[in-house]
Amino acid sequence: MEIEAPSALSPGITPPQRIALGDLVVRRWEPLDLLPRFAALTASFEHLHSWMEWAAEPITLEQQREFGAAMAASWPSASGSFNYGIFDRAEAVLGAIGIHDRVGPRTLEIGYWCHVDHTGRGVITRSAAELTRIALALPGVDRVEIHCDAANTRSAAVAQRLGYRLERIAPRPKLAPAESGQGMWWVKTAE
Ligand SMILES: CC(C)(COP(=O)(O)OP(=O)(O)OC[C@H]1O[C@@H](n2cnc3c(N)ncnc32)[C@H](O)[C@@H]1OP(=O)(O)O)[C@@H](O)C(=O)NCCC(=O)NCCS
Repeated sequence: MEIEAPSALSPGITPPQRIALGDLVVRRWEPLDLLPRFAALTASFEHLHSWMEWAAEPITLEQQREFGAAMAASWPSASGSFNYGIFDRAEAVLGAIGIHDRVGPRTLEIGYWCHVDHTGRGVITRSAAELTRIALALPGVDRVEIHCDAANTRSAAVAQRLGYRLERIAPRPKLAPAESGQGMWWVKTAE
């Protein structure tokens, strides 16, 4: 039986649903984002397939409809995630980022993916910097983690660029084709 990690956030404590970040907007997914999100995921499939467990098979519209419904239903989602899209001023989907309350007491996790056509511009680093700051300011939270496979150098570079400390490298299940089976746990704590 899987034992659930205790959550960090008390009921009613949530990060904002919309964050303005210069030329970027990081906001909770809305129902109308279904088709743009599906298009972004479809265009980025090969890039995501290598690293994301949920991209084992081509993304389907039906799965995305279900994801969108789950996102619309509650904040956080039933699994304790605050999932945001990252948009430019024209509302194009540049990527996604989430704060996940699934690690344990006082700790939140951040995860992300970038549209393949928008990598290398700091979109994810800038969004993750702001969500790290917001997460560490939430009551009851003093630690944020980024988990990635040791072979995922682009993901590790985001954590490193933001001043996360590499706390450990340890075996973890290999869930996507490019993964090595060695995980990295990057950690940032409140000052
Ligand atoms: C991991 C992933 C999100 C990283 O994307 P990325 O494009 O490298 O990250 P960013 O958007 O932060 O861009 C960083 C680059 O922009 C540059 N940059 C430009 N302007 C910047 C700014 N204002 N701030 C920060 N970086 C900036 C950085 O120097 C860096 O340059 P480099 O490519 O020469 O190293 C992407 O590779 C991806 O989607 N991978 C597949 C999914 C995945 O692995 N997710 C993580 C699972 S753990």
